[in-house]
Amino acid sequence: MCLKLENRLHCFAKTCAGKTAHDSTSFSTEELLMSCLSLHSGGTDTTSNTLLTGFLYFMTKPHIQGKIMFSSEIDQVLEGKDFVTFEDRHYMPYVQAVVHESQRVANTVPLGLYHSTTRDTELMGYSIPKWDILDSSS
Ligand code: HEM
Repeated sequence: MCLKLENRLHCFAKTCAGKTAHDSTSFSTEELLMSCLSLHSGGTDTTSNTLLTGFLYFMTKPHIQGKIMFSSEIDQVLEGKDFVTFEDRHYMPYVQAVVHESQRVANTVPLGLYHSTTRDTELMGYSIPKWDILDSSS
């Protein structure tokens, strides 16, 4: 199994050689294309919208920008480290709060995404037929 992100493309290329979307595998050129489209469409507007909101926030509240840039929170957590990890965020409560506030105001994907059942499903007493569209916001 290929777990490392850097191996993913290599695995895909190796596994999908000669396969089409009609074979019973998710390793096909069509799947790779759809994955790339999902990552692109899912990651583009969300990220730029959040960053834009963060920058606008900083412009109107320079003291907060100053606290992020010149406080020792980031320096303390990252001192002596070669790279940042996702876990480091737990030790940066102020930075975390600013990111959360930016995301709250940016209000990206406010209604969430639609999901669909791939088989008849029972959930908390409700019967949901196959291929029904589910709206997580309602
Ligand atoms: C600030 C940045 C982002 C925000 C606020 C955000 C928000 C969301 C939300 C709310 C969902 C729906 C979750 C659900 O209803 O199950 C979602 C799904 C998804 N996001 Fe993001 N996202 C962000 C960045 C990204 C990036 C950078 C990527 C890809 C590189 C990405 C790829 C996806 C994909 C593929 C899904 C669908 C997952 C699924 O099929 O269940 N997102 N995102």
